[in-house]
Amino acid sequence: MQTKVRVEIENVSLSYGRVEVLREVSLTAEPGEFFALLGPSGSGKSTLLRLVAGFTQAQSGRVLIGGEDVTRVPPWKRNLGMVFQNYSLWPHMTVAENVAFGLEERRLPRDVIRDKVTAALGLVGLAEFGGRRPNQLSGGQQQRVALARTIAIEPKVLLLDEPLSNLDAKLRVHMRGEILALQRKLGITTIFVTHDQEEALSISDRVAVLEAGVIQQVGTPMELFDRPANRFIANFVGTVNLLAGTVEPAPQGAVFESPLTGRITLAAPPARAGAVQIAVRPHALALAAPGAAPDPARIWVDGIVAEREFLGEFVRYRIRAGDADLIADQPHLAGEPGFAPGNAVKVGINPAQVKMLGA
Ligand SMILES: Nc1ncnc2c1ncn2[C@@H]1O[C@H](COP(=O)(O)OP(=O)(O)OP(=O)(O)O)[C@@H](O)[C@H]1O
Ligand SMILES: [Mg+2]
Repeated sequence: MQTKVRVEIENVSLSYGRVEVLREVSLTAEPGEFFALLGPSGSGKSTLLRLVAGFTQAQSGRVLIGGEDVTRVPPWKRNLGMVFQNYSLWPHMTVAENVAFGLEERRLPRDVIRDKVTAALGLVGLAEFGGRRPNQLSGGQQQRVALARTIAIEPKVLLLDEPLSNLDAKLRVHMRGEILALQRKLGITTIFVTHDQEEALSISDRVAVLEAGVIQQVGTPMELFDRPANRFIANFVGTVNLLAGTVEPAPQGAVFESPLTGRITLAAPPARAGAVQIAVRPHALALAAPGAAPDPARIWVDGIVAEREFLGEFVRYRIRAGDADLIADQPHLAGEPGFAPGNAVKVGINPAQVKMLGA
């Protein structure tokens, strides 16, 4: 196994004409880390990855790989492996020939190439498939050939641009586990681009969230989910209820107040007094029938069920409460019918699960 390297992106800004695509982006992927770039379509993820690979140049800023400034180094001298979204295998070559391609370009001896191809195909579980052509493989197998081709050259860094987007939902989940297992086995610093938040949260050590070319937050999946830095992150990473109101410092921490909820005492002191939004996840809301004796630790508000969506493990309710629409997820248990549209319900907010955001 080769030494693990750090990838540093320092203060990079990039424009196409007058369109600013990346704005003062700084990021570090630690040696051996599985790092995801997450963001909506057009936010600049592929551009940032191509910049690390050397296919794109920025107007300002630097890229360092293993401490070495590679900003002016061409792609073929950076020793990186990139898997593109449409993994473009050569249709007229066998699987083994596809995997050998990058090694032949490096003019390695024949037997060395053969051994490396065998090892790479073995790693992705395709040892028996060397003689087939890409059109004789399933989508997931083709995906693995693209990975084998990339790891065969023993890159210092693995760059993956939405490598699973062409696969069906089940295979995507399976392959993401395989990619992570392979990355862990090889210990290669990996940057993985996706617009799918569940995918990013499930396999990454850390995630950077991009919006319109600006990094909004970098953190572990749990940090992003539990402590979103702003409304964009709260909405983009998972589903969230946002309620507007005002906040005052208090001896216990803070008091939030809104017409819907009245006063809620929160443990965390506010950054500043005044207008704020609070965020509560759908699964952190409880529902109770109007006549029930509700849990006194929660703040209860009255609502009417507007919609109900049965999702198997849980039921997602949309509840009209005052002028707010609240999303509440309740676990589904066999034999418990839950609530129906039109039913009056009480919605219970647990103050410990409330996160304060800026206005
Ligand atoms: N060569 C180019 N010339 C002009 N504009 C470009 C070029 N390449 C990308 N862009 C623009 O830069 C922005 C970012 O593009 P990029 O491909 O990095 O987005 P992305 O986050 O990868 O999106 P997606 O999830 O759709 O792949 C987009 O608005 C795009 O139209
Ligand atoms: Mg892209």
